[in-house]
Amino acid sequence: MIQWYPGHMEKARRAMLEDLKLVDLVIEVLDARAPLSTFNPEIEKLGAGKQRLFLLNKEDMADPLLNRYWKETFEAKGRPTLLVNARTGGGMKEFEKTVSDLLAARRERDRKRGIVNRPVRAMVAGIPNSGKSTFINRFVKKAVTKTGNKPGVTRGKQWIRMGKGLELLDTPGILWPKIEREETGWNLALIGSINDAIVQPFELAGHALKKVRRFRPEALKERYDADESMSDTEIFATAAKRFSMLLPGGEADLSRAAGMVIDDFRSLKLGRITVDEKET
Ligand code: G4P
Repeated sequence: MIQWYPGHMEKARRAMLEDLKLVDLVIEVLDARAPLSTFNPEIEKLGAGKQRLFLLNKEDMADPLLNRYWKETFEAKGRPTLLVNARTGGGMKEFEKTVSDLLAARRERDRKRGIVNRPVRAMVAGIPNSGKSTFINRFVKKAVTKTGNKPGVTRGKQWIRMGKGLELLDTPGILWPKIEREETGWNLALIGSINDAIVQPFELAGHALKKVRRFRPEALKERYDADESMSDTEIFATAAKRFSMLLPGGEADLSRAAGMVIDDFRSLKLGRITVDEKET
């Protein structure tokens, strides 16, 4: 189904690789609703030797219990991970503390090698729509000094000076998701990380219903007056009637109802659902 790698992504990838060379710390922004689907294994290899910090962003949209599960699962693999809400700044204190701990370890290593006062440079990376810009903007508001209007230090790069010896690259690195399985593609489309103009709305709404059946079946009754035993088409029809989405002849407008299911999923009207399955 979805295999979409536009030319501008290749350009973004090369830019990202260049930026990667300049930094010590990579802050990887994932979507807490899909920590695996939004994870890019490529940077795992490319970023070898760099310090890394994972942010499960949009934690407010994901299942609270699964948020804990995914944080622990990542950490069990040696990946420091924080739950954050870049929109409100939730988790920012913990973020600052974690970065400060990471920096202390680094400074200690530097000190042993006789290097003092070397700033640690960091970049934010992640797939489109994971919340990178929102996170950087949050961060900038709190920044002690912004080097924004001065010429950048490294080849025109702009660094945001964060105090405590940390400098953050002001433009995020864009990663392309790795879509090896259909399920990953559908998950990404559902959370809005890939352009859904390229997928069939009925199929995407069907994927939303699959997740609702699996994780929040009660929402079918609450929102659509439907139930689990119904087929997808029956659910669309029931939902269409409930919301008076009727065609001129009085028939249920299934297409509009499918669009509503997708919107409802994204606006949390069906609850906080994490789409990735637990690892077995
Ligand atoms: P990107 O740079 O990684 O591409 O993502 P960006 O920051 O543009 O964020 C994509 C969308 O996700 C934005 O919504 C943003 O507000 C939202 N977002 C980012 N972090 C969070 C979060 O922690 N929680 C929630 N609920 N939303 C978050 P948008 O609808 O595209 O724009 P807008 O409504 O902010 O104008």
